[in-house]
Parts: sequence; C-alpha cells; structure tokens
Amino acid sequence: MIIKNVRLKVEKFTISDAFFWSKIDSNPKVRHFVDGKKQTYSQSVAYIKKNISSYEKSGFGRYIVRLRKNNEVIGMCGYLEENYGIDFGYRYNPSVWGKGIGFEVAKLVLKFGIKDLKFQKIYALSHIENYGSIRILEKLNFEKQDMVVINSQHAILFVLKVERN
Ligand SMILES: CC(C)(COP(=O)(O)OP(=O)(O)OC[C@H]1O[C@@H](n2cnc3c(N)ncnc32)[C@H](O)[C@@H]1OP(=O)(O)O)[C@@H](O)C(=O)NCCC(=O)NCCS
Repeated sequence: MIIKNVRLKVEKFTISDAFFWSKIDSNPKVRHFVDGKKQTYSQSVAYIKKNISSYEKSGFGRYIVRLRKNNEVIGMCGYLEENYGIDFGYRYNPSVWGKGIGFEVAKLVLKFGIKDLKFQKIYALSHIENYGSIRILEKLNFEKQDMVVINSQHAILFVLKVERN
C-alpha cells in the first residue's frame, strides 16, 4: 500500500490488475488526450510490467487507484522516468470523472513524491485542450515551462520545482 484515505487507496500495480486496468485503458475516451490510441489487453499487460520494472529499478512508478468501499479499480496516478525527467501522470475511468477524485489522488501522490521519494523537480504533460488535467496541475502549483508537440498533438510541459526549507 502506498497511500489510503477515507474513500481511496493507491497501490503498486500487479499483473493480476490487468483485466480491470485493461477495461479502463481500452476506452477511447480515456486515451483521447493521452495519444488517441486505445490499448489492447496485451498492451495493458506490457504497461503493468513496465511499471513493475520501474518500481524495481527506480523505486517508483505509476500506481493503481481503487475505491476502498468495493475495491473497484478506477484509474492510475504516479511517476515514470522520461527523457525530460520525472513525469507525473494519471488517468481514470470516465465513470468517476468530475467528482474531485483526479485532484484528490494527484494531491496525495504528489505529497508522497515530494516527502517520501524526495523528488526535486516533477514534470507533467497535458494536451492543450485537456482542461481538467490542466486545472489539476495548476491547483497543485505546477508552472507552464514549454509548449511541445507529441504524437502530432500540441501539449504543455509543466514543471513543479520543489522548495525545501
Ligand atoms: C483529466 C482527469 C484526470 C480529471 O480527473 P477528474 O477526477 O475528473 O478531475 P476533478 O474532478 O478532480 O477536477 C479537477 C478540476 O478540474 C476541473 N475539471 C475537470 N474536468 C474538467 C473539464 N472537462 N473541463 C474543465 N474543467 C474540468 C474541475 O472542475 C476541477 O476544478 P475546480 O476544483 O476548480 O472545480 C480525467 O478526466 C481523466 O482521467 N481523463 C482521461 C485521461 C487524461 O486525460 N489524463 C491526463 C493526461 S495528461
């Protein structure tokens, strides 16, 4: 267990999460602002394996998010090492959008990244029209660093520089 609060829990992915994770990542609505490519079951398994390797190699990865009341898998949030640095990312089942969960988990996982993982700089990418994601990053004090083109889509590269006293 990485984090839990009253309604949610955040844990490392395991291969046994593949079925329910694949249900989320095969939804075109979920992938619309990611890369527009809905994921097959085997791609979802590969994604989980990538995160398990990242836990082993780097000590962090993306984490699976569940509702505590019934253990339902609702999405993921966490970190992966990218060529520009530590990338913060998240995505959820549309059934839970607009209920404050995206922000609530992002805030918890960000605190974990700063306090426990000791990150100094955290990056996040958001498609320019992904207003919900942009709002989450702005509420967490990420700043716009650059405009980039990824998979032919215009995106904003955000950065959070952690100040320690
Ligand atoms: C983006 C995403 C994570 C937002 O999660 P969510 O749980 O719906 O967000 P929240 O309910 O916590 O809302 C956070 C803020 O964004 C705002 N918001 C959410 N969706 C919005 C939308 N479509 N348009 C405008 N604002 C939006 C909320 O009003 C809230 O702001 P407020 O506190 O000022 O009212 C979710 O829509 C998602 O998983 N999308 C698909 C995957 C994705 O795009 N991931 C990000 C890739 S960079």
